[in-house]
Amino acid sequence: MQTYILGIESSCDDTSAAVIMDDVILSNVTAGQDVHKNFGGVVPELASRAHQQNIIPVIETAIQKANIGKNQLSAIAFTRGPGLLGSLLVGISFAKAFSLGLNIPLIEVDHLQAHILSHFIRNNDRSNPIPRFPFLCLTVSGGHTQFVMIRDHFDMEVIGQTIDDAAGETFDKAAKIMGIPYPGGPLIDKFAQSGDPKRFIFSKPRIPGLDFSFSGLKTSFLYFLRDELKKDPEFIEKNKNDLCASIQATIVDMLMLKLKMAMDQTRLAGKASAWPDVAIAGGVSANSGLRRALENARDTLGWNIFIPPMQYSTDNAAMIAIAGYFKFLKGDFASQSAIPYARQQVTK
Ligand code: KG4
Ligand code: ZN
Repeated sequence: MQTYILGIESSCDDTSAAVIMDDVILSNVTAGQDVHKNFGGVVPELASRAHQQNIIPVIETAIQKANIGKNQLSAIAFTRGPGLLGSLLVGISFAKAFSLGLNIPLIEVDHLQAHILSHFIRNNDRSNPIPRFPFLCLTVSGGHTQFVMIRDHFDMEVIGQTIDDAAGETFDKAAKIMGIPYPGGPLIDKFAQSGDPKRFIFSKPRIPGLDFSFSGLKTSFLYFLRDELKKDPEFIEKNKNDLCASIQATIVDMLMLKLKMAMDQTRLAGKASAWPDVAIAGGVSANSGLRRALENARDTLGWNIFIPPMQYSTDNAAMIAIAGYFKFLKGDFASQSAIPYARQQVTK
C-alpha cells in the first residue's frame, strides 16, 4: 500500500505545502511573501500574518495538484523548528487541526534535517541518484552554515559551523549595504553573472578547523564601500556587477576552502580510499557560483556531488514531506502538544 504524506513548511517567509507518495513527489506549492522586500529582512509579525493568509489556499492547491483526495492522506508532517515562532505556530496549528479532523498521525520535522533529506526525493521513475551513507553535507541557508556528517536519515552530526553570521545572511547584508532589496542573495547572484569576480578583493577571516566566520567580511565590505562612496557617490551604481561578482566569489571561496578540509578529514577518519559523497543544501545552494565551484571539484578532484534541484534549494515543503515519510516508516509520530522551537536542537 502506498503512503501519502502532506508536508507543511512555515518556518520563515515561505508558506509551502507538498504531497509525496512514498518517496516520489506529487506536488510542491510555495507562496512567497513580498511584504519584507523594503525592510532589508523578514519582519516576524508580517510573516505570521502572511502565513495565516496563505496557508489554506496553498494546502488546497497542493492536494489538488497531487490529484488525490484528502482522505487518502496517511499522515501530516510539519516543520517544528528552527525558525520564527509566530510563523511556525501557523503551520503547526493547521497541521494539528487537520490531523485531528482526518484522524491521521502527526509528524514533526526539523527544518535543517529536511534540507539535507531533500536529496532523497525521487523523480517519477526514481531514476535520480541519491547519496550513500555516510556522506557530508554543507548546509548553507539564511540562518545556518554548517557541515553535517549524515550516517543515516536521522543520524546526523554537526562537525563545523559558523560562529557568527550565516552565508545567506552575509549575501543579504551585503545586498542591503548596496541598496538591493531583501532577499539579496538571488539578486547578487543575478548581477554577478555580468561582473568581474576578481575586480575587488575583500579580506577573508581565517579561523581554525571546520568553523566559519563571516562577520568580518561584512564589515570590510561596509568600510570599503563607505570609503569609495566618499570619493564617488555613484560608486555602487557604477560598479554593481563587479561588486556582486567579487563578494559572491569571496563567500564561495570561503565555503569551498573549508569544504575541501572537511572532505579530507572525513576521508581520513573513515579510512576510505575514495572521497565520501558530498551534498549541498539550503537556500545558498541555489547560488550559481557555489554550484559551479562544486561541479569543478567533481571534475578536478573526482568528488561524487549532489546539488539539489532549484525548487528544493530554498525553503519548500517537499523536503518536509520526504522527512515525514522516513519518520512514518519508523512510526515516529508527534503528539498534539508539540510546540515549536526557535533554535536548532542538538542533532544526533
Ligand atoms: O534555506 P532558505 O530558503 O531559508 C532559510 O532556512 O534560511 O535560505 C534563504 C537564504 C537567503 O539568505 C537568501 O538570500 C539565500 O538563501 N539565497 C541565495 C540564493 N538564493 C537564495 N544566496 C545566494 N545566491 C542565491 N542564488
Ligand atoms: Zn531553510
